[in-house]
This record gives sequence, structure tokens and C-alpha cells, in this order.
Amino acid sequence: MSVMDTARTKGHLLWAGAAIFFMVAAIPVWAHAGNAKEGRKIVITKKLGNCIACHYLPNVESPGNIGPNLVKAMQAYSMADRADVTQWVRDARKFNPHTIMPPFGANKILTPQQIDDAVAYLYTLKKQ
Ligand code: HEC
Repeated sequence: MSVMDTARTKGHLLWAGAAIFFMVAAIPVWAHAGNAKEGRKIVITKKLGNCIACHYLPNVESPGNIGPNLVKAMQAYSMADRADVTQWVRDARKFNPHTIMPPFGANKILTPQQIDDAVAYLYTLKKQ
């Protein structure tokens, strides 16, 4: 290997390193945004969120009504309240110690990514 080849290889490694660094650095931002399509699946799937056992959500057959209608509830939340909405899903006991809503985050029923996805879906219910 000539001196030039070694220099070129080092250059490539540096670029690959930088690319990986930026990809990893971007993940939390992307993850926080949440995927509304996945979120819809999570809230209506029995083995995942099963939110519809207690909450009205649109286009669902006979949703429950133990909890508030989430379409109505979401109208009161702006994007600035995203942390509160997330907290409701993660662990509602922060707002009501006697809540019957399962602490999806604290009990690891849903992963932080799944909670972000569910919250992203809830925000699609906001009427502009
Ligand atoms: C066992 C019933 C139950 C399940 C399952 C449930 N919730 Fe709830 N949820 C409630 C109740 C009851 C409330 C009303 C607040 C309280 O607990 O005092 C509530 C409140 C909320 C609120 C706050 C609404 C407001 O008026 O500000 C949000 C947001 C919410 N739930 C989202 C979800 C999501 C998303 C899921 C599924 C991942 C879910 N809930 C699953 C019972 C439930």
C-alpha cells in the first residue's frame, strides 16, 4: 500500500464515521416526532394500547366510554402541550393518582417510541 492509498483510506473512514455520527444524532429527533400511522395501529390494537377499550376514537367499532372522548379531549391541547399528552399515556397517575388508565410507559406496556407514535396519532385528531 502506498502512502497515498493509506491517506485515501483514512479519508474514507473519516467520512463514514461522520455519516454514522450524524445518523445516530438524528435518531432522537426523528423518534420524538412519532409516526401517526403506527400510532393508529397501537391505539386500536388489543395487545398494544387498546385505548379503545375506554376511549372513543374515530372509525372504530363500539369503542368504550369509561374515559373521555379523545377527539374532543385533543381539541384542548396545542403542540406546546405535547409533553402533557405524552405524560397521560406514559403514566396518568401524575394527573390523577386514582386513575384507572394503565401507566403504559411506567409498566412497559408500550415502548417510548410506541408512546410517541400514539401521541402523534392523537394530534391528527385535532380539528384545525
Ligand atoms: C382502562 C381504561 C383506559 C385505557 C385502556 C386508556 N385510558 Fe386514557 N383515560 C382513561 C380515563 C378514565 C381518563 C380520564 C382521566 C382520569 O383518569 O382521571 C383518561 C384520560 C386520557 C387522556 C387525557 C384526556 C383529557 O381529557 O385530557 C389521554 C390523552 C388518554 N387518556 C389517552 C389514552 C391512550 C392514548 C390510551 C392507549 C394507549 C389510553 N388512554 C388508554 C382511561 C383509559
